[in-house]
Amino acid sequence: MRRFNSAILLAVGLSLVSGGASTSHGAIQNAGHSPQNKQPNFVFIMTDDQDLHLDSLNYMPKLQRLVGDEGTVFERHFCTIAVCCPSRVSLMTGKLAHNTNVTDVYPPYGGYPKFVSEGHNDNYLPIWLQDAGYNTYYTGKFLNSHSTSNYNNPYPKGWNGTNFLLDPSTYSYWNSTFQHNHDKPVVSDGYSTDLISAHALTFIKEAHASDRPFFIGITPIAPHSKTAEVEGSSIPAFTDPVPAPRHANKFPNARVPRGGNFNPDTQSGASWILDLPQLNASDVSYMDSYYRHRLQSLQAVDDLVESVVNELKTYNLLEDTYIFYTSDNGYHVGQHRMVPGKGCPYEEDINIPMLVRGPGVPKGRTVDFITSHTDIAATLFDLAGIPLREDFDGIPMPLTAKGMRGARSDPRREHVSVEYWGSNLQEGDIGRVSATGAGVVYSNNTYKAMRVIGGGYNLFYSVWCTNEHELYDLTNDPYQMDNLINTKGKLLGRNIKKVISRLDALLLVLKSCKGSECTLPWQVLHPDKRVTSLAEALSPTYDLFYAAQPDISFSACELGYFPASEGPQEGYAYRRDGDWSHWA
Ligand SMILES: *[C@@H]1O[C@H](CO)[C@@H](O)[C@H](O)[C@H]1NC(C)=O
Ligand SMILES: *[C@@H]1O[C@H](CO)[C@@H](O)[C@H](O)[C@H]1NC(C)=O
Ligand SMILES: *[C@@H]1O[C@H](CO)[C@@H](O)[C@H](O)[C@H]1NC(C)=O
Ligand SMILES: *[C@@H]1O[C@H](CO)[C@@H](O)[C@H](O)[C@H]1NC(C)=O
Ligand SMILES: *[C@@H]1O[C@H](CO)[C@@H](O)[C@H](O)[C@H]1NC(C)=O
Repeated sequence: MRRFNSAILLAVGLSLVSGGASTSHGAIQNAGHSPQNKQPNFVFIMTDDQDLHLDSLNYMPKLQRLVGDEGTVFERHFCTIAVCCPSRVSLMTGKLAHNTNVTDVYPPYGGYPKFVSEGHNDNYLPIWLQDAGYNTYYTGKFLNSHSTSNYNNPYPKGWNGTNFLLDPSTYSYWNSTFQHNHDKPVVSDGYSTDLISAHALTFIKEAHASDRPFFIGITPIAPHSKTAEVEGSSIPAFTDPVPAPRHANKFPNARVPRGGNFNPDTQSGASWILDLPQLNASDVSYMDSYYRHRLQSLQAVDDLVESVVNELKTYNLLEDTYIFYTSDNGYHVGQHRMVPGKGCPYEEDINIPMLVRGPGVPKGRTVDFITSHTDIAATLFDLAGIPLREDFDGIPMPLTAKGMRGARSDPRREHVSVEYWGSNLQEGDIGRVSATGAGVVYSNNTYKAMRVIGGGYNLFYSVWCTNEHELYDLTNDPYQMDNLINTKGKLLGRNIKKVISRLDALLLVLKSCKGSECTLPWQVLHPDKRVTSLAEALSPTYDLFYAAQPDISFSACELGYFPASEGPQEGYAYRRDGDWSHWA
C-alpha cells in the first residue's frame, strides 16, 4: 500500500490549496457586522467540566436571559478532546490535539510545561489578537500544571492583563492562589468564582480606558470537582464541587436526569467502561448529591455572567461585544455506570454548551449544525477581520442569520473528530478511590472517535486502542446503548458493513488530519471532489474502493501521541493512482 503515498501527499497538498478558498468563504460569512466596521470586542466565558446533557443550563436563568435569549444557542457544539488542558490548548491554537501534541493534563504529555515546550506559548490566540490591535486579558484557570512553581518560567505570553488561578490550589474553591500580571502569587481570601468575577470587571474597566478592541477570557472552575493534594501521589483526591454559601441549599430535589444510559442494567461501551459493575443505591444517591453540588456551584457563575453583562452595559460596550459562553469539555455522572468524570467519547462528555450573543447574532435562536472548539480561533479571526491561518483545523462558526442558513447543508459541518490518549480519572469520593484517598485512573482510554450528522443520519463511530470499535445510530439510540458494530442488516439503506467501510476511511483521514483536510476530509479520499459527504460516499460505485482501504487499528495503548502505535496513517485516494481502475 505504500506505493500510493506520493499520490496521497499530492491530495493533501491540493486540499490545503482549496483550504484557502474555504477561508475566504468563511471570512465573508461574518464580516461587516460590527458598527462602523470597528473590530468588535470579545468576552469569552468558559466553565470547567460543565455538561449540556445533564441539564445544567436549565439551572442558569441569568445566562439564559442575558446570553441565550439575546443570542444563539449552538446545540451541537463539541470539544475535540474531552479533558481540560488539551481542550483549552486546542481552543487557543485552533488545532486538534494531534497537531498540538498537548494531550494530557500533566507532564510529560500535557499541562502548562508541555504547552510551552511545544512552542504554543509563542504562537497562540492572545498573541495573534495583540498583533491585530487587540488588548487581551485573562482571569481564572489557564492550563493544568500552571503552578506556583512555574508561573514565571516563562509567564504565559500575549496578555495585557492577567489574574490566574494557580495549582496546586486551582480547584480548592476557597483561599486559592491568584497571580496578577508579573506579581508574586498571593493566597486570596474568598470564593474563587466571585474573585474571578471581580477581576473580570476590573479588566473590563481597564479595557474600556484604552481605545483598542479587547479580548477578555474569564474561566471560573465551577462545576469542576474540588481537589486536594494527596501526599505521595501525583493524583489528587476529588470531592464534590463547593457552592458559594449563598447557594448552598439550592435545588434540594434535583437529581441526575435518568436518561436511557443512566446506570443501565445492561452495559454497553468499550474498553474499561464495558467492564464496570452496576452502581448500587448508595452510589446513586451520592451521585445525586454530587450533581446538586455541581448545580449549586454554577450559581455563582450565573451571577458572574450577570455582573459582566451589566458592566459592559455601564460602559456602553454591549453593542460592540461578542459574548461567548462555553465549557472546556462535558461531564458524566452515572451514565454508562460511570462515577463522575469526563474523557470519554460519549455525548455527555463531548457535546457541550455554547451560547453566543453579539452584533448580528440572531436572538433567541437555536441551531443544530456541528461546530467545535477548534472553530473558535477561526471564528474570532473572522470577526476581527484577520486572515485565517492555514494551520487552523477549524473554520469560522456562522454567527449571522445568513451564514446559519447555509450551514446545515455545508459538508464541512457534517462531522467532528474526537480523540484521547492515556487514562481516565474517576472523580467523587465514592467507590473508585484508592486507599490513600487519591483518585483512581483506568487505563486504556486511548481512542479516535467521530460524530457524523447529515441529512438522514446521526452517527457515532469509534476505534479504541484495544481495537474495539463502536457504531451508534443516535437517531434510534440517542443514549448510545446499542453498539451496531457486529450486527448484520442495513443502515442508511446499505449493508451495515458498507457503511462501516466509509466511516473507517473517514476516521482514517480525520485521526491525523491537518488544516483543511480536517474540514474537507472527503477531498482527501476523493481528490476529484465528486464526493463531499457520507451520503455521496455510500454510493455502490465506491464499494470496492472503500473495501480496499486499510482498516484503522492500534498496535498499543499509549499514554501520549505516538503515531507508530496508531496503525495505518494514510488511505487510498480515489483515481489518484494509475491503478485506480480495479476500484471502479
Ligand atoms: C497591550 O499589549 C500590546 C503588545 O505588547 C501593546 O502593543 C499594547 O500597547 C498594550 N495595550 C495597553 C493598553 O497597554
Ligand atoms: C480561608 O483562610 C482563612 C484564613 O486566612 C481561614 O480562616 C478560613 O478558614 C479559610 N477558608 C477555608 C474554606 O479554608
Ligand atoms: C455500594 O458500592 C460501594 C462501592 O462502589 C461499596 O463501597 C458500598 O459498600 C456499597 N453499598 C451498599 C449499601 O451495598
Ligand atoms: C489494555 O489493553 C491491552 C490491549 O488490548 C490489554 O492487553 C491490557 O490488558 C489492557 N489493560 C488494562 C488495564 O485493561
Ligand atoms: C508528543 O509528545 C511526546 C512527549 O514529549 C513525544 O514523545 C512524542 O514523540 C510526540 N509526538 C509527536 C507526534 O510529535
